Amino acid sequence: MDFENIYIEEENNFATITINRPSKLNALNKRTIEELQVAIAELDEDANIKVIILTGSGEKAFVAGADISEFAHFSVKEGRQLAALGQKNLFNAIENLSTPVIAAINGFALGGGLELAMACHFRVASSNARMGLPEVSLGVIPGYGGTQRLPQLIGKGRAMEMIMTAGMIDADKAFAYGLVNHVTSLEELVPLCVKIAGRISNNSSVAIKHAIKAVNAGFKYDVDGYAVEVDAFGHCFGTDDFKEGTTAFLEKRKADFPGS
Ligand code: COA
Repeated sequence: MDFENIYIEEENNFATITINRPSKLNALNKRTIEELQVAIAELDEDANIKVIILTGSGEKAFVAGADISEFAHFSVKEGRQLAALGQKNLFNAIENLSTPVIAAINGFALGGGLELAMACHFRVASSNARMGLPEVSLGVIPGYGGTQRLPQLIGKGRAMEMIMTAGMIDADKAFAYGLVNHVTSLEELVPLCVKIAGRISNNSSVAIKHAIKAVNAGFKYDVDGYAVEVDAFGHCFGTDDFKEGTTAFLEKRKADFPGS
């Protein structure tokens, strides 16, 4: 697939995906969502890529939401399908990806944009970032997992207030809420994510894959997260990475994980 609305840069063991529709503040239209799906699946398949960083182009927006012009005329059935397919194909796919995905929030992250950032494994923001779920101001609700992930990340009361007021919070408040892990200058945003990516990529990607699965299991109502952890823990003992990690520790050297 030729990408029109995103571009990918690869360096060492990580890849940066940049959503590139700055004239529309990187709003997620259908094409952009499809391109993100394909890009993320391809990068996840690439054994050399240990971390994915997701950001927006320009200095103003990460993503200013789903593209309102595309769904303004939708029927009940189409609205339902928009949310269901988006959740399944992109937002849940990112959350459950084996490769860690860091959102680098470089400006407005609104509606579907904040939902996209929340689907990532964690978030870093620049100090100019503004975050919110403004959907009720449009007569709709968050449909890409926002009503579920925002309370998981910041607590129910704060999420209710953000959703009901449709207001925006700044980067410092997002940090205080635990919605973002770090706040930095716009210039330092991607470099900081790269630094974190470097620390992640020193570790066993197989173990990280299992850790993501176990952590996510705790947020699924029909799954016993502790049981998933036990299985994933046991599975690690059969991997080459476990042999290498424990051997390297005992031999007092840095592990060189084979990734299997
Ligand atoms: N969907 C479609 N287009 C969008 C968009 C969205 N979610 N967000 C921004 N755009 C477009 C604007 O329509 C405008 O396009 P135009 O130049 O062709 O008119 C362009 O991006 C720039 O946005 P603009 O509103 O002029 O910038 P601003 O600095 O005045 O305001 C925002 C910035 C983010 C406050 C404002 O764009 C906004 O409120 N966007 C919608 C946010 C939203 O409700 N998202 C949730 C959707 S479910």
